[in-house]
Amino acid sequence: CGIVGYTGHENAKDIVIDGLKKLEYRGYDSAGIALLGDGTLTVRKKAGRIANLEKAISGEKLFGTTGIGHTRWATHGSPTDTNAHPHMSGDGEIAIVHNGIIENYQEIKEELIREHGITFQSETDSEVIAQLLGVLYDGDLEKAVAEAVKRFEGAYTFVAVAKKQPDLMVAYRKDTPLVAGLGKDCNFLASDVTPLLRYLDEVYLINNGEMVVCTPDRIRIYDENRRLVSRDPLKITWSVEDAEKGGYQHFMLKEIHEQPKAVQETLSRRIDSKTGDIRLDGISLTMEDLQKLTKIVIVACGTAYHAGLVGKYLIEKFARIPVEVDIASEFRYRDPFVDEHTLFIAVSQSGETLDTLMSLREAKSKGARILSIVNVVGSSVARESDDVFYTWAGPEIAVASTKAYTTQLICFYLLALYMGRLKGTVSDDSYRMMMRELNALPEKIQRILDRSKDIEKLAELLYNRTQVFYIGRGLDSAVAYEGSLKLKEISYINSFAIAAGELKHGTIALMEPETTVIALATQDRLFDKMYSNIEEVKARHAHIVTLVKEGHDVKDISTEVITIPNCTDEVAPVLSVVPLQLFAYYVARAKGENIDKPRNLAKSVTVE
Ligand code: G6P
Repeated sequence: CGIVGYTGHENAKDIVIDGLKKLEYRGYDSAGIALLGDGTLTVRKKAGRIANLEKAISGEKLFGTTGIGHTRWATHGSPTDTNAHPHMSGDGEIAIVHNGIIENYQEIKEELIREHGITFQSETDSEVIAQLLGVLYDGDLEKAVAEAVKRFEGAYTFVAVAKKQPDLMVAYRKDTPLVAGLGKDCNFLASDVTPLLRYLDEVYLINNGEMVVCTPDRIRIYDENRRLVSRDPLKITWSVEDAEKGGYQHFMLKEIHEQPKAVQETLSRRIDSKTGDIRLDGISLTMEDLQKLTKIVIVACGTAYHAGLVGKYLIEKFARIPVEVDIASEFRYRDPFVDEHTLFIAVSQSGETLDTLMSLREAKSKGARILSIVNVVGSSVARESDDVFYTWAGPEIAVASTKAYTTQLICFYLLALYMGRLKGTVSDDSYRMMMRELNALPEKIQRILDRSKDIEKLAELLYNRTQVFYIGRGLDSAVAYEGSLKLKEISYINSFAIAAGELKHGTIALMEPETTVIALATQDRLFDKMYSNIEEVKARHAHIVTLVKEGHDVKDISTEVITIPNCTDEVAPVLSVVPLQLFAYYVARAKGENIDKPRNLAKSVTVE
């Protein structure tokens, strides 16, 4: 979910609605706004996207100089008008917006009904915040919030306003993100910096357990013991344009096309321009640390997990350290075998995915050293890590991740080669060769993008398929998972990825004449084996699209061929994923789907 708040002298309505639009990628099941005017507290909320809310209030003259807003990704309670935020206390004095899950809401709800005769309006867990604040409020919202949070369990970042204190917002952060921004005669609160880019270039990052009290002229932050905290603001490097579509039809297409720049940026931040060597400034891993390691565990969700699959291959190859890769929601609950000799690598675009964050905490509590690969500076995962390896992708808005993935891969190349150099497990020759290959990637990605038309045509041919299989071996199998996820996320086609050698052990039973198979065959070392696997599906009369490096002849066994520029096997994933991203994009476009905001998904999932 996304939350935003403004207090100042302008009409908060437009500022809050505009802010919500920037946060819509965090969820778009419903949206709502609360405005505080002279002695009034008005709440308007609507199921569906923010545009629905805008339409619903377009005929009304709403005014308030303080406003809070919310865009929801439904967890407890279906996405209806009533379940939308803001929620109000029964007496209409308090309104709140919340991001997270109050795990013990049932118990608090029953108590409020039993002891205070409160009637609940919605099915949400969040309403207990408003109702409890309503009971505790005696004219001092700060005090009521400080009291209320003692009762909650779970994740509960929220912003509250009270009718009697119209120039005030009080927020509390627990496990889901919150930033506060100091404007000119106004102040902001938001789930992340994107709504604030047009107003300011510095924000305060709020930590867990902190309460923020905002008036138009001041932001006060209190720690868990209600002591005033003094903190330096963080300079924001993202620009307004970075977070806008810039002439592209969708954010996803813009972000696909930004990959040459993002990859270049991620490389140049870590490569010394004079020596051409990898430079991991600010990362404290030493030779001794590496020698103590018995293993590395990479943990992530979704696309970031797929980047981790490539990371495993690279670290094992270049640094010769055993690597496990796990899905965060599984890792945390399997009593993982992790100790002080483990390096735990969290991979996360947002740095706020709760499954990943909780896994990180679990590994930390068992003594592991934490390194994270993160895109959002100052995010929770970054802040709780011993070392952070930032991707320099810029803001990624489309739900389907693209440039974050390719830059995460770049981090893994640099990390694996750096560790390999420290340990002496990578020769000078192969190090130099890999550096040349990495530096050539931006231009090679651009060459693929310049031929987007071919992929668009292929997508127009295949967009009405109901099932698509992605197969590959070695690094190609890792990319197959990502290609398949892209397609299912935005086109809703039932797609499935499998290691090509495993096909014959079950999945091949699904092959029928004309079944669509996208076969990745970029790995020279495995080419002959992969060729045989493609033969296997060809024998079942599948419609085969083969993805190969230029110069490989696969026409005999393919219905269509996609090529990527020549490269060494290890860097192929950075190139081969690009046509697959474009394919998913153009298929979804041909189907008329809502590409940047696919159904049921949210970009940043801050619930477990
Ligand atoms: C959500 C998104 C995915 C994303 C995953 C991990 O499920 O829909 O696109 O890959 O979260 O996000 P993160 O921000 O941790 O990389």
